[in-house]
Amino acid sequence: VVGEPLKVMISGAPASGKGTQCEMLVEKYGLVHISTGDLLRAEVSSGTEIGIKVKEFMENGILVPDEIVTDVLCAYVVSFYSFFRESKFFFFIICSVLKIVKSRISKPDVKEKGWLLDGYPRTAAQAQNLERLGIRPDICVVLDVPDQILVDRCVGRMLDPVTRKIYHVEYDPPESEEVNARLIIRTDDTVEKVTARLETYKQNAEVIFSAYMDVLNKIDGNRPKEMVFGEIDSLLQQVQLVAKQRQKLI
Ligand code: AP5
Repeated sequence: VVGEPLKVMISGAPASGKGTQCEMLVEKYGLVHISTGDLLRAEVSSGTEIGIKVKEFMENGILVPDEIVTDVLCAYVVSFYSFFRESKFFFFIICSVLKIVKSRISKPDVKEKGWLLDGYPRTAAQAQNLERLGIRPDICVVLDVPDQILVDRCVGRMLDPVTRKIYHVEYDPPESEEVNARLIIRTDDTVEKVTARLETYKQNAEVIFSAYMDVLNKIDGNRPKEMVFGEIDSLLQQVQLVAKQRQKLI
């Protein structure tokens, strides 16, 4: 990859294909993938104190309160620094998570590889917090998919707990019997819960879109995943090209 490291935000309704596209983007661009959904699910399956609090919200398709998402992001960022691991509690008190996210985002590996923020921000407050710290993406990709398709995708989704790869019973079945045997289904992937998650998404979407209007690219997510990726890929290449041209001018 040539040019500046990318700062990418990916947004869209539940099951619009964010996780699927992130897998492909990480593979091609080597971006540091930060998914609040994955971080929260990891807390739930580890049975941590935060995980216990989070479980009910997630299982019912309700957004987790900001303070908890903040703690989880904070813990994730802290896990990169062995020094802070020992003094985690103290560190939590003296630093606001967003400062930590900001500091994480300015570390050498992210500076070198770029970042891919998935599922955050999801509310006006979360967007304002990022804004206050000057954390802005080069591009915000929104995957647009009709409601009925979203529901079909959710109820057929399966996850490989070993590789974290996402499958679909019909649209993207596993490649072997061995993988098929170990696939799991998310507890929030029922018609009822998807409908609730979709409603919440719709209530917040406009605020998020207006916060990133200047870098927003809404694309048709209702096509084969390779086609969707092809469009995102060319958008990202354009961003890199513009950044390179700007650098030459300086
Ligand atoms: P999160 O995990 O972020 O869920 P989500 O936004 O609802 O998105 P999904 O993971 O359901 O779908 P996706 O868009 O990644 O689609 P995927 O690629 O898997 O969040 C879960 C919960 O955590 C929230 O409800 C909330 O409680 C909490 N949370 C998270 N972030 C939070 C925050 N910031 N604040 C507060 N709470 C927060 O694809 C779906 C299926 O479709 C798969 O089976 C896949 O194989 C298939 N598929 C994908 N692309 C295609 C395609 N092009 N064609 C056909 N099939 C496809």
